[in-house]
Amino acid sequence: MHVISAPQDFNAEELYVDLWPIIGHSLYLKCEGFNFAGSIKLKAAAEMVAAAEQDGVLTPGSIMVESSSGNLGVALSMIAASKGYRLLCVTDTRCNLSTRRQMEAFGSQVHVIVEPDAQGGFLGARIAHVHSLCASDNRYVWLNQYTNPSNWKAHYHRTAPAIAAAFPRLDVLFVGVGTTGTLMGCARYFWERCRRVRVVAVDSVGSVAFGGASAPRMIPGLGTSIRPPLLDESYVDEVVHVAEADTVRACHRLARSGFLFGGSTGTVVSGAMNWLAQHDERQLTAVAIAPDLGERYLDTIYQTNWLQGVYGEDVLSSGELTAGSRSA
Ligand SMILES: Cc1ncc(COP(=O)(O)O)c(C=O)c1O
Repeated sequence: MHVISAPQDFNAEELYVDLWPIIGHSLYLKCEGFNFAGSIKLKAAAEMVAAAEQDGVLTPGSIMVESSSGNLGVALSMIAASKGYRLLCVTDTRCNLSTRRQMEAFGSQVHVIVEPDAQGGFLGARIAHVHSLCASDNRYVWLNQYTNPSNWKAHYHRTAPAIAAAFPRLDVLFVGVGTTGTLMGCARYFWERCRRVRVVAVDSVGSVAFGGASAPRMIPGLGTSIRPPLLDESYVDEVVHVAEADTVRACHRLARSGFLFGGSTGTVVSGAMNWLAQHDERQLTAVAIAPDLGERYLDTIYQTNWLQGVYGEDVLSSGELTAGSRSA
């Protein structure tokens, strides 16, 4: 039995889905959406707030301000409500309406940026807005998930050790890329403790995290229009890129088996499937991280009109997912 008095005190750390029956590849999916914030961002938010409190940066009169595509904003809103802080979240038009409503339900203020910056990305515009807020009032405290080492340390201290304990013979770990907090925490942990584990970063086509040209992306959470300051590629073994249409197909494939996951999970699963199909996976133990669940995406990824408007009529009928073969 779990009895808690603060919402951030509960997180299901030990739940995995065996995807073999669904995708035909040997892959275990670590589910990070089972907590009161609904996503893996709970860990980064809790670690950043704790560090800011310890450093004396966050005090009772502070107003936290943060740029988020949604999930960190929800997690910080929840913690702020629990601890009696105020939060202003700066997001953009790709933030799901239900995510925005959730932040507001916790008592947070939400600013939605509607115009991208000169390079065409929303992230730069969101960060510029945060800078102007901070300059306007010294009660604002920006934890800054893009540069804050507590972001990756949360996964170094919690996510990676949990995976290592559950899979002592792990060979390959697939991690999606946003701020790269999850990636860098896991990659540093396995680099230092268990070099046999290959850490594969999964990014969206059109994201500039690992170079390449920026292109419009509609699915929040994964991918970035600015190179992530936390990223140190020397810890990352490989990178795969996934087109958003493939993300959508993977999400629907999982949903049709009864598992409703968010967009970044579809990206990570699709990237992992491609990687596994190109490697001799029979002897490999592979894990992928699922950052959240699918309810926040019912009006986008799981809505036919939205899908067809963004990706075309055949997005769900073309590009069937392929099946591999499992070792005996
Ligand atoms: C749904 C979802 N998936 C993946 C990520 C990426 O995680 P990270 O920022 O640790 O790279 C995020 C980050 O906001 C997210 O919200």
